[in-house]
Amino acid sequence: MKRKILAPSLLSADFGNLQRDIEMLNRSAAEWIHIDVMDGRFVPNISFGFPVMKAVKQHSEKFVDVHLMIVEPEKYASQFVQAGADLVSVQVEACTHLHRTVKQIQEAGAKVGVVLNPATPVMMLEDIIAEVDLVLLMSVNPGFGGQKFIENTYRKLAETKNLIEKNNSSALIEVDGGVNLENASKLFAAGADVLVAGNAVFSTENPENTIRELLG
Ligand code: DX5
Ligand code: ZN
Repeated sequence: MKRKILAPSLLSADFGNLQRDIEMLNRSAAEWIHIDVMDGRFVPNISFGFPVMKAVKQHSEKFVDVHLMIVEPEKYASQFVQAGADLVSVQVEACTHLHRTVKQIQEAGAKVGVVLNPATPVMMLEDIIAEVDLVLLMSVNPGFGGQKFIENTYRKLAETKNLIEKNNSSALIEVDGGVNLENASKLFAAGADVLVAGNAVFSTENPENTIRELLG
């Protein structure tokens, strides 16, 4: 049986009570914690950077999954590894030298993921798939939590699965954006290994229960 992993996105947490929310995640069935870093250039929003990342690391017992939505990620990726990232994912659209950036993250000591925006085709990964630990498929246009899931993601999931098999890659597939109680089990069944959920987790009265429900 394939493992199902949930990665709650801290973007929708209560920043005034960050330690409380991180401790809730520690008690929960979620194995990962998803950290969305936005620079106001690659995406039209600014989230947070190293100080928050360090605070997360201080309190979290979970695998730290960092999603960089920034231009020139090669400038900061290693620093995120030093700040405690277990995995760093970079947007393919933001990398002029993707192979070099992938190697840089691995050499810094973390696992590495590559991210595709909704309009970026899966074939962009053909020459890098054998090198990476994870493919992150954006199922909304990145920048904000709480957006509507884009249905074309199912087709991209199938294509990504084929590409991984064809290349004997061990990469996991993560889906990010608009994941909720209605589509989570369908996405796991369609081949997703990791689901990110922000709004669906933190907007509910009992996030710990919701996390269990999302895992099915
Ligand atoms: C979107 C971020 C997502 C986002 C997911 O730009 O990359 O991780 O926080 O949030 P929900 O689950 O609310 O769509
Ligand atoms: Zn994300």
